[in-house]
Amino acid sequence: MKHPASPRRPALRQLALGAALVAAFTGLSLQAVAQEKIKVGLMLPYTGTFAALGVAIENGFRQYVDEQGGKLGGRAIEFVKVDDESDPAKAADNANKLVKRDNVDVMVGTVHSGVALAMAKVAKDNDTLLIVPNAGADAITGPLCAPNIFRSSFSNWQPGYAIGKVAAERKFKTAVTLTWKYAAGDETVRGFKEAFEGGGGKVVKELNLPFPTVEFQALLTEIASTRPDVVFVFFAGGGAVKFVKDWSAAGLKDKIPLYASGFLTDGTLEAQGDAAAGIMTALHYADDLSNKRDQAFRLQYAKTYKLQPDVYAVQGYDAAQLLGAGLAAVKGDIKNRDGMVKAMEAARIDSPRGPFTLSKAHNPVQDFYLRQVVGKVNKNVGLAAKGLADPARGCRM
Ligand code: PHB
Repeated sequence: MKHPASPRRPALRQLALGAALVAAFTGLSLQAVAQEKIKVGLMLPYTGTFAALGVAIENGFRQYVDEQGGKLGGRAIEFVKVDDESDPAKAADNANKLVKRDNVDVMVGTVHSGVALAMAKVAKDNDTLLIVPNAGADAITGPLCAPNIFRSSFSNWQPGYAIGKVAAERKFKTAVTLTWKYAAGDETVRGFKEAFEGGGGKVVKELNLPFPTVEFQALLTEIASTRPDVVFVFFAGGGAVKFVKDWSAAGLKDKIPLYASGFLTDGTLEAQGDAAAGIMTALHYADDLSNKRDQAFRLQYAKTYKLQPDVYAVQGYDAAQLLGAGLAAVKGDIKNRDGMVKAMEAARIDSPRGPFTLSKAHNPVQDFYLRQVVGKVNKNVGLAAKGLADPARGCRM
């Protein structure tokens, strides 16, 4: 029997239709979200003394993404790039553009500590995820530490401390330090001094020149007349190439042992040639680690970029691995920040350098290799410091 049309029926029908529409709409929008790309803002130096370092970081980052089929956590990756020129004066503007104009989901950068400090401030102010793939500024995983800030590289204190410890163990008594006058130089020297003087040595002179200048001559003359047992330096990139050549040309190479954080000879050996032979450094990477992960990484890198990888390429690769670990845990939902942070904090990164985990302050806890330059290779000749964790002074998190 036909029921007379209930006055409620059209309303019910409308409701059902509405629900279907909503479902269809939300279904569609969920799909749309899944298809939307993750925007990665690469803020790196592409000009100046650190240009090659920026390129290596980008290469490494892209290599990992490519190995995952171009996706992390199921989401395709899109890049927005800015050349930070290693210029702290332009850093806040550059980072703000990435965050506010380009609406990036995550910032990845940079090489220079002073620029990275400005990026960390922008990341904090806007609650933007930041992964630092090189810059060692101690404060980033110290007083400025934050849930949304991670580092895939090192703190400046770490390599300085590791090589200072070796210099003390080798019974050198006096040291002169020389570096660019800025956060990375100051803090690496501080790490060196802490370990060297803690082990019985004495830093008798701390020499500096402004970043990124390379007029070393007067300083080399001063070192020659001071005649310390050992010299410790922090330089990197183009400046490191010039320093090592000048050191050798000044005749100091065979007179005073030169110790450094490994950046002095990483990615630079082709250009430094014989002048670099024998230099002792400590770093969280070496060119002959011979673990399977590293061998595969190096092979693929050389094939793709027609270049030998270096520590910067590794740090870029691992920045992508870290982001990937976070995104995988939340199935690509980058808005689920808590879920991402938890997964990134717990990640054990299977790095070409060897596996590492993060400290509470989000800085790698990792081995520092003792290396010596042999030919075109930073050869691993021992362990300078095992499982070294930055003390994260001032971090409350
Ligand atoms: C830094 O500024 O923190 C820095 C730059 C280049 C390096 C290492 C650290 O190779």
